[in-house]
Amino acid sequence: MALLNIIKLGDDILRKKCRKVEEITPRILTLLDDMKDTLLKADGAGLAAPQVGILKRIALIIDFDDNNKIYELINPEIIAAEGEQQELEGCLSVPNEWAITKRPMKVTVRATDRNGCEFTLTGEGMLAREICHETDHLDGKLFIDGAVHVLTPEEKKEYFE
Ligand code: NI
Repeated sequence: MALLNIIKLGDDILRKKCRKVEEITPRILTLLDDMKDTLLKADGAGLAAPQVGILKRIALIIDFDDNNKIYELINPEIIAAEGEQQELEGCLSVPNEWAITKRPMKVTVRATDRNGCEFTLTGEGMLAREICHETDHLDGKLFIDGAVHVLTPEEKKEYFE
């Protein structure tokens, strides 16, 4: 088990576009394992490779409606989106900030798993938000970009105290 350092807002790495994974090497598998440990330890909902300093198109998300199942998405691509939701969102790389974001209510993502097999995953509600949030990271986009509303300190108190 290895915990990776989570890069925080202000570091240029978070703004870079990630490269496609061309081959699933032992290094990629180790990265997936380490990202999982890091995500669980940080108590997050998802984690993208640039958040640990790796500019590759890899993201992990947790499905809280399905026994906290962890999905490993390699080269994820959103292939369908419908509806709209506006909910509260945060990010391990942007600690103590929360914002209402506008996301599709339902999305389908196509990705490759650690065995090199392509799969699709459809998520609604929170899972849809996670898929969008993590794939955005791979293009250097953060949830606070174009958020509907970033919570003020007073609002944060209302929500969390
Ligand atoms: Ni994030």
